[in-house]
Amino acid sequence: MAGPEVALEVRNLTRTFGTRAAVRALDLTVYAGDVYGFLGPNGAGKTTAIRCMLGLIRRTEGDVAIFGVRDPVAARRAVGAIVETPAFHDWMSGRDNLRIACAYAGISSAGAETEIARVLDRVGLTERARDRAGAYSLGMRQRLGIARALLGRPRLLILDEPTNGLDPRGMREVRDLVRSLALHDQITIFISSHLLAEVQAICNRVAILQEGRLKAEGKVEDLIASRQPRRFVEVGAADAAGLAAALSAISGIEVIGPGENGRTRVALVELDGAALNRALLDRGVGVDALVPETRSLEDVFLEVTT
Ligand SMILES: Nc1ncnc2c1ncn2[C@@H]1O[C@H](COP(=O)(O)OP(=O)(O)OP(=O)(O)O)[C@@H](O)[C@H]1O
Ligand SMILES: [Mg+2]
Repeated sequence: MAGPEVALEVRNLTRTFGTRAAVRALDLTVYAGDVYGFLGPNGAGKTTAIRCMLGLIRRTEGDVAIFGVRDPVAARRAVGAIVETPAFHDWMSGRDNLRIACAYAGISSAGAETEIARVLDRVGLTERARDRAGAYSLGMRQRLGIARALLGRPRLLILDEPTNGLDPRGMREVRDLVRSLALHDQITIFISSHLLAEVQAICNRVAILQEGRLKAEGKVEDLIASRQPRRFVEVGAADAAGLAAALSAISGIEVIGPGENGRTRVALVELDGAALNRALLDRGVGVDALVPETRSLEDVFLEVTT
């Protein structure tokens, strides 16, 4: 049986500026249907890699294929993108900006108005479409950028830090929009971001880049699990002295120290949480809290990029 369809394949992508390599031998595979997070500290090479993928700048080395198409001009038809902060003709209306983009993208004037109405509605800008783009808030500009990227129904959307500089509401709107584009419009999403909680919430797979090199790649839950050599729980009991005595007597765990809210932080070496609970009960200690410590994508990111 054929494997899942590959939306974006990057092989050995390298881009140097003078003597400095901004992207080094980067390999990425994004499958159709993925919401793929592209992470890395400032200057890691994310925007440079994205520009190379889109054919906006020359690659020093390497191959990029979008839905199997290698020719950059043909491949671009399947992709919509915003790279860094989208620029507009600020003195023109949002709608006129999209008209220009349609002309540029070769969308016939017969089809353009319907397509513009569709993308404006999709990003929630219909009401403000007649206003000058220059009068838009940052959040509205990002949404106009996404609207422009959606013209012509791309199957892959590449978004370079789409929530950069947005307020919490603006971030939520963009996040919900991205989710909905993936879910309802079946668009594969490739999104670079610094907001790790957000990436963890919306992405199924991620790549972490540092100094142009791929440091980690895979499913979010696998990355978290594979970097969790020991599991920890926090245990609380009304009888603190009894708890401390019991914990020091139970084997297969290690008491690490105080945790949150008066609880005790314990490493599960050979016991799991349920077994620890039973062992405490056997010793007459009534456990009122047993909280597993879950690690976040942020923990993985900070480890991988030190
Ligand atoms: N046109 C250019 N000329 C020279 N160096 C460049 C150019 N564009 C990028 N670089 C360098 O390439 C490296 C990667 O930059 P890039 O903008 O791709 O990083 P980034 O991961 O997008 O960072 P950020 O999170 O800040 O957006 C940096 O060292 C940067 O200075
Ligand atoms: Mg960047």
